[in-house]
Amino acid sequence: MSRTAPLPAILFVCLGNICRSPLAEAALRARAVAAGLELDIDSAGTGDWHVGEPPDRRARATARRHGIDISGYRGRQVQAEDFRRFSHIFALDHTNLSNLRRLAPADATARLGLLLDMVDGLAGQAVADPYYGGEDGFEITWQQVDAAAAAIIDELYR
Ligand code: 4NP
Repeated sequence: MSRTAPLPAILFVCLGNICRSPLAEAALRARAVAAGLELDIDSAGTGDWHVGEPPDRRARATARRHGIDISGYRGRQVQAEDFRRFSHIFALDHTNLSNLRRLAPADATARLGLLLDMVDGLAGQAVADPYYGGEDGFEITWQQVDAAAAAIIDELYR
């Protein structure tokens, strides 16, 4: 990447922005630091029920088990400006991807994609919503979003 290229800016989007996308944000932040890469990273939800709230307690506990504190994150809803500000927007599942396509303004510049399309062997799959399950579901979420974060870092290094 040339030095004059703008910083890659990556947004993760799920439904509530309190379970899956904050974990994806945390995983990529940690991997970017480890790789010495400067990235603009954020997460948002297509829904507005949890705007201003911290991540779900189970998501916070999962991140903490992996050495990351996400208690300062706050839920927010996707905005039209996000489609211009971010170079890449990754949806955590197919419904959120279709909703993003519907919400994208005519002058959107961001590339939209399904997050697990980044991961060998998981292309086309959704990161399942762990909200209505137990804490073990959040660990599966973590493993999936962390694999995607590793793949994103690989892609940016290439
Ligand atoms: P997320 O999970 O989209 O991974 O943040 C959910 C959080 C909240 C709700 C649904 C999914 N909800 O219906 O409130």
